[in-house]
Amino acid sequence: MDSSHPNNLYRNLFVGTEQKIPLLDGSERTYINFDNAASTPSLLPVQKAVDDFLVFYSSVHRGTGFKSQLSTHAYEQAREIVLRFLGADPKTHTCIFGKNTTEAINKLARRFPFTPQRNIVITSGMEHHSNDLPWRLAAETIHVGLLPDGRLDTDDFEAKLKQYGSRTALVTISGASNVTGYINDIHHLAETAHAVGAQICVDCAQLAPHRKVDMRPLDDPAHLDYVSISAHKMYAPFGAGALVGRRDIFEQGDPDLRGGGTVEIVTLDDVVWAEPPERDEAGSPNTVGVVALAAAICQLESVGMDAVAAHEAELTRHALEALHKIPEVMIFGSTDPARAEERLGVIPFGLTNVTHFLAASVLGYEYGIGVRSGCFCAHPYILHLLQVGEDEAVKVRNRMLAGDRSEMPGLIRASFGLYNTIEEVDFFIDALKEISKGNYRGKYVQDRASGEYLPEGWTPEFEKYFAIGNSRCYESI
Ligand SMILES: Cc1ncc(COP(=O)(O)O)c(C=O)c1O
Repeated sequence: MDSSHPNNLYRNLFVGTEQKIPLLDGSERTYINFDNAASTPSLLPVQKAVDDFLVFYSSVHRGTGFKSQLSTHAYEQAREIVLRFLGADPKTHTCIFGKNTTEAINKLARRFPFTPQRNIVITSGMEHHSNDLPWRLAAETIHVGLLPDGRLDTDDFEAKLKQYGSRTALVTISGASNVTGYINDIHHLAETAHAVGAQICVDCAQLAPHRKVDMRPLDDPAHLDYVSISAHKMYAPFGAGALVGRRDIFEQGDPDLRGGGTVEIVTLDDVVWAEPPERDEAGSPNTVGVVALAAAICQLESVGMDAVAAHEAELTRHALEALHKIPEVMIFGSTDPARAEERLGVIPFGLTNVTHFLAASVLGYEYGIGVRSGCFCAHPYILHLLQVGEDEAVKVRNRMLAGDRSEMPGLIRASFGLYNTIEEVDFFIDALKEISKGNYRGKYVQDRASGEYLPEGWTPEFEKYFAIGNSRCYESI
């Protein structure tokens, strides 16, 4: 990879970008990761911060030794960094650490103070399952409709808010879609929700790594009440996530998980809960993951979120322009290269003549390109984008329940990160041109249960590249 290309400026900040992996023909090539919407590689400064911190790593909060105190200091400093990054005021908002966005949203759904008078949640048909299923259990959940291209139908949003009015407790919406990369106008939605006395939660799993998120002060009508993030999508894959939310809400009620760290006083028949955020962080936290998240934030801030967005928009524009020139490619969502900066670098597409499962397998096995295929944890949204009607949806469902996913509808998704390059996009486009002509070497066999295509007679030798236990250092004992 030519790192002198201005487009490759950020590449050296990441771990493993030049890693070679095996291909079906026996050769090796540098892996291309276009699956950043799922998980991102680690930033080098994050790896370095983890290494530096591990020397001091110890218990947090109640230890009296130097290492415990340093660990507690780092853990609490990370909280301040997350609050600052999201534009949240520590006086009104608290940062609760957990393992990811899914956990954050489940927590909010369990802790939100619904009342018999305010018990409606308004969400949308474009949500990741993690911002849909937790709400269905907690309250009556209403889904706002979508436009044919997958954008939120804002007229329907306003109509639903009008219909449910003061019964609406919460609006919960993705900051950006993990399928189409659409960015919702969250501050406008917030203002509309607040006008009926509802609060708003924004699932920022996708938005936060790629755009500035600003929760704004509570007295701003367009403020955000709750935001969730996942570190593994922000170049810090060490298992942490955060829910930043209104302190007054978490000062009320019992925690959803009870145990060590959540209490002020316990007697045999009474408990006084701790103040937020401790009340909602049961058990020993993932201190290393939290330090990694904060280190990633510091690096993203130093690059600047505008620069991040500009770089990814350039990749997206370039990819869209090239994809339009392949006749077999059908792009979903926003297809206009000139509007690349208005959305994230997440491109869902299909091929007219090769299924999403097969195309993704060939990209992986023959070109060393990691994409994702299928429904991306957003089944209703994919069915909407593919315009799968009610009858067909029932047939698909029945086939899947009978253990056959071979004809499961779905798309291929290419999603870009800060370290990806124009050269990588070009290589990907060349690969797609070949695949769309039916040119691939392997003989692929479909596993009907998963839908996945596997090359006959070949499995990668994972242990040649990494094996647990091989990193032991006997020499140093
Ligand atoms: C928009 C969105 N929300 C929520 C999630 C769930 O994130 P996690 O798996 O980190 O909990 C994802 C993951 O892909 C996502 O893209």
